[in-house]
Amino acid sequence: MIQWQKSDWRDKPRVQMPDYTDAAALREVEDRLSRFPPLVFAGEARKLKAELGAAARGEGFLLQGGDCAESFEQFSADAIRDTFKVMLQMAMVLTYGAKVPVVKVGRMAGQFAKPRSAPTEVKDGVELPSYRGDIVNELAFTEAARIPDPQKMLQAYTQAAATLNLLRAFSTGGYADVHQVHSWTLGFTESEKAAKYRDMANRIRDALDFMKAAGVDSDRAHTLQTVDFYTSHEALLLEYEEALCRQDSTSGNWLAGSGHMIWIGDRTRQPDGAHVEFARGVMNPVGLKCGPSMTSDDLKRLLATLNPDNEPGRLTLIARFGAGQVGDHLPQLIRTVQEEGAEVLWVCDPMHGNTIKSGSGYKTRPFDAVLREVQEFFAVHRAEGTIPGGVHFEMTGQDVTECTGGVRAVSEENLSDRYHTACDPRLNASQSLELAFLVAEELSGRHGGHAAQAAV
Ligand code: PEP
Ligand code: CO
Repeated sequence: MIQWQKSDWRDKPRVQMPDYTDAAALREVEDRLSRFPPLVFAGEARKLKAELGAAARGEGFLLQGGDCAESFEQFSADAIRDTFKVMLQMAMVLTYGAKVPVVKVGRMAGQFAKPRSAPTEVKDGVELPSYRGDIVNELAFTEAARIPDPQKMLQAYTQAAATLNLLRAFSTGGYADVHQVHSWTLGFTESEKAAKYRDMANRIRDALDFMKAAGVDSDRAHTLQTVDFYTSHEALLLEYEEALCRQDSTSGNWLAGSGHMIWIGDRTRQPDGAHVEFARGVMNPVGLKCGPSMTSDDLKRLLATLNPDNEPGRLTLIARFGAGQVGDHLPQLIRTVQEEGAEVLWVCDPMHGNTIKSGSGYKTRPFDAVLREVQEFFAVHRAEGTIPGGVHFEMTGQDVTECTGGVRAVSEENLSDRYHTACDPRLNASQSLELAFLVAEELSGRHGGHAAQAAV
């Protein structure tokens, strides 16, 4: 077992974390949180890890998605249900394309803390500390709102617990029944008048009808009526993460009890930094964002630090380079991974490299650029003979207007209609499902590619 304590990160350089001014208030919150129950259990994290390991071998595919930043203000059962619902629809479409199980992981029930491009924000000549997510401070542009308040960690914990409770109920309470999920998908294809989506949706229906006729339906009722749905977030606010860290009684390993999977952001992945130090010691599956500044040397060190035993499913590399840039960066990192003989799951985040400012001043992401990055990601893996194992989206089940484009096109002028995100722009329900159909097309290529490879 590695030498590691959950507080070791405190001796390392830290970035993107708030400077709490009231040390006593902070300590009190940490004490309380450390006595609360964890939100997830070690067995669940182990199960997810095994599923991610399978995805890395091409025997599964990861769908990770949800808000950029969860919000206290917009917290509601409807919002959780709608995002869950769209993710199940997307998963069904992806399963059809990939012909393997889709592992569903929400950016939910803990995705509160945000790294920012600058420590302060200037508006009309006034400079204030940046907003860092509802777990830290408030979005309102006033001095008081931007002061980091440790009490917010308690509210985040409560919201995460309630969110997870609802997700667990939806997953097993009949809501996730495969037939119901498909009927929602059919609704999309009818209203969108998109012939190729309708065609795929009809083929899925045929497959379900066949299973029913063959009796698979009733024999395996449990499998078709329930779903495994996991949670994930960026482990950025380390005081919160440490307070929820627990030792697993069966293995003695440490678990980040704040969510099933945690990831390290592109701005906090310094090999000697606090965030890598924390993540290295917990048993959860860990994601690592890889942006254009990731070097092969850094990646080598991070592979060795974060997955010294080369455990399958432990490490997911989330590529986020931007459309037009994947070919410049990804091949070299794939080769580094291969030279090191490292077991990783490669996932594409086509959101964070494609953020632009629209003419009207809104931060947005063009649907076309998002799609192009996914296609480039698949093309590079095809060329390298490696496995594109998943996708990572910022998305919501709500009908927002934050990203431009899609079949039900959102224009730059429409952005102000329903622009609700507290941070980055998300795909809406229709854009998310459309993207799933397009990724499914890429995946049927992957499937064919495998068959061809197996035949050689
Ligand atoms: C995010 O996933 O919200 C994020 C900040 O991503 P990245 O670290 O890749 O910029
Ligand atoms: Co984001």
